[in-house]
Order: sequence, then structure tokens, then C-alpha cells
Amino acid sequence: MRNPTITRTQKSLRGQIWEWRGYGETIAFVPTMGALHSGHLSLVKLAKQKADRVVVSIFVNPTQFAPGEDFEAYPRTEETDVEKLASVGCDMVYIPRKGSMYNAHHATHIKVGGVAENLETDHRPTFFEGVALVVTKLLNRVAPDIAIFGEKDYQQLATIRRLVADLDMPIQIIGAPIARDEHGLALSSRNQYFDEHGLNKARKLNKIMFACAKSLSGGVPIETATQQAREALLSAGYSSIDYVSVANADSLELMKKGPIDGKVRLLIAAHCDNVRLIDNCAI
Ligand code: PAF
Repeated sequence: MRNPTITRTQKSLRGQIWEWRGYGETIAFVPTMGALHSGHLSLVKLAKQKADRVVVSIFVNPTQFAPGEDFEAYPRTEETDVEKLASVGCDMVYIPRKGSMYNAHHATHIKVGGVAENLETDHRPTFFEGVALVVTKLLNRVAPDIAIFGEKDYQQLATIRRLVADLDMPIQIIGAPIARDEHGLALSSRNQYFDEHGLNKARKLNKIMFACAKSLSGGVPIETATQQAREALLSAGYSSIDYVSVANADSLELMKKGPIDGKVRLLIAAHCDNVRLIDNCAI
């Protein structure tokens, strides 16, 4: 096991990237907000298969949190994160210094339309602006050949694909499959907010989602199947549901009526014990 280099400045980040480029090496990048779990590590493992060098960033990005969300409480576990990254062969961890990402005069905003509309945006209206901004800055700083994002944040992945294509960034965006625990719960840094009881409830989400996907593919109308999933979530003790929606898997255009054919995705966001969970699957 080799410890990754830790870099905190753009200058040392660029120096290392240029050195690798000088040897003709390719670079894959995995942006994260830290609090790493095996889902993140699966992204790094995939990155290692795709490029000679892997850079992971750790930055809890304030611009993607709305007031009242968990920016302050978001787990910060830098030391164990670096150990975990060493165990999967990450070459460099970029941890920008606090305050170095947004200067005091920062006045640029990036708004992605289309795929970034509806779903998350109906409930977290500034989220994708924050994500688009930080991802653009990180991609500019790291200048990788490839960047890898998890499919758990399905709309985020679609938004980043759109952003990178629209802004002519010569970077291949790769989506990685959702990592789940042994009960099917999609891995998330926020799962650590749950106590045992909450975790049991959280683990019902994927069961309800897969049952809904099965009904939909069996021909149950979208309105009926999604309403049944909402009722099941409420009976399971979920306090509120942001959406149970069916959308075209590429355009994320919402589908109110069938037929379900082609690439279609079921997406869910619901609140369980004050934790907002998201999940999705193909239908
Ligand atoms: O998915 C995440 O962890 C974050 O939204 C990202 C892509 C690292 C941007 O802060």
C-alpha cells in the first residue's frame, strides 16, 4: 500500500499533473466531499482501470448547500479518507485549502437547463448551480482525461454530462453503478446520521423502489405504481416524499403516462428520520 500524495494548492496540483503528462500518462479524476465509503472507493477502483493516474478531491462545497441544510454538520474525516484512498491505490488527493475555492470577489454562476430542471431542482433550487460551479472549477484545475461520478446522484451525473459537453471540456464523463449495502441501501455519506432504527427504515427505500420498477415494467400505469410506492414509503415511517418519478433516462423528461419503452429511469427522494435519501434504478 502506497500513500497518495496530498496536495492543497493549485500550484502543486498542476506541477504533479504536468509531470505525469510529461511521461505521457493519462489521468482520471474522482471529485468527492469526503466522508468516504466503499461506494467512493468503487469509483476510485474504476478510475484505476481507466487511466494511469487517479486524483481524488475532497472538498465540502458550500455553494451546493442551501441555508438550513447540513453544511456545518457534514462529516469531515480527512485522515481516515486518506487511509482509505491509499488502500485502493489513489495517486493524489487534492484537498483545496478553505477559502481557496471561492475568492471574496467571486461573481460567476453556472446554470444548466434541461436535465437539471425538475426532480432535485424542485426541492433544492440552488443545488445544481453549486455543483456545476465547483465541478467546473475542479475540472479546470485538475484537467483530467476522465472524470467519474456515481449513478446514485443520477440527475447530477446527467447535469455534469450536459455541462461538460456544452462547455467543450475535453473530458470523458463516466457514470459508475450504485454501490449498496447488504440490504440494498444505496451507500451515502449521510447514512451515518442514522441510528439502528432509522437504518432499518432507510433500507426499505430500495425494496419499495425495486417493487415499483417491477410493477411499471409489468404494465401497471405510472400514476398507480408511483402512488403505491408513495403509500408504502409513508407506511414504512418516511415523514415526507419529495418525488417518486419516472423519466426518460437520458433527457430526464418526466413521464406521466406510459408506455414504458426505451431507456427509462425511476427516481425517488424521500425524508427518513430527518435524513433526505435519494435512489434510482432502471425500469
Ligand atoms: O457528489 C458529490 O459528492 C458532490 O456533489 C461533488 C460532485 C463532489 C461536487 O461537490
